[in-house]
Amino acid sequence: MIRIRDLHRIYRVGVEEIHALRGVSIDIGRNEMVAIMGASGSGKSTLMNTLGCLDRPTSGTYELDGKEVSKMSSTELAHVRNEMIGFVFQSFELLSRQSALANVELPLVYSRKSLSPKARIAMAEEALGRVGLSDRMDHTPSQLSGGQTQRVAIARALLNSPRILLADEPTGNLDSQTTEDVLRLFRSLHAEGQTIIIVTHENDVASYCQRVIRLRDGQVIADCPAHEDEGVRLAGGAR
Ligand SMILES: Nc1ncnc2c1ncn2[C@@H]1O[C@H](COP(=O)(O)OP(=O)(O)OP(=O)(O)O)[C@@H](O)[C@H]1O
Ligand SMILES: [Mg+2]
Repeated sequence: MIRIRDLHRIYRVGVEEIHALRGVSIDIGRNEMVAIMGASGSGKSTLMNTLGCLDRPTSGTYELDGKEVSKMSSTELAHVRNEMIGFVFQSFELLSRQSALANVELPLVYSRKSLSPKARIAMAEEALGRVGLSDRMDHTPSQLSGGQTQRVAIARALLNSPRILLADEPTGNLDSQTTEDVLRLFRSLHAEGQTIIIVTHENDVASYCQRVIRLRDGQVIADCPAHEDEGVRLAGGAR
């Protein structure tokens, strides 16, 4: 489903050039659950933003479902971003005064699909049901636990039934119990067939995935099944 070859991303800040990705090549298939790991600054978010079509590589190719992303028109790109990819950011990016339901519904309000309010609410309710929050739909983020808040963000990402769910440090701000709740949710989505890519610096989180890709200085230094991944094994092994 995802095929990237020799991907480079150079940021230019004034006269300085930062080579954030240096020749990354990866294939990710349907229904894989992949962890992307690496030290701070190794290029994980840059890679995720590229996969999510939020950022364009400086060079290299990215094929999504057999279509080269750099050759897509802006309309096609918008379509891919809205319909094919769900993004969960580390900072939850929810509106604090709005209910869970309103937060999940929001992207639909701005979608080109001109849905009736009734249809939007039904879709948002369905998404909240999938993450186990049917009984918290009227709560605002401040009336929810950290894990529940993150599940609202995940519900929002699932709204359009994206083919690929991208999550950049989805458990970065959560305690270990809450982290486990969120991971169980990812795992059950994966069991339902969802393709999931998670950036994490925690071996525990990676051990929930099937495959671990490690980046260092913008390059892939390891790509193997989670049970073979050194870091994960040292942390107690794949569950
Ligand atoms: N918009 C930007 N402009 C300039 N440089 C950037 C930009 N975004 C990232 N960088 C640089 O690119 C490199 C890779 O950054 P990136 O955010 O991908 O790292 P990361 O692996 O996600 O790190 P972290 O674990 O801290 O989130 C870093 O050196 C960073 O400073
Ligand atoms: Mg990052």
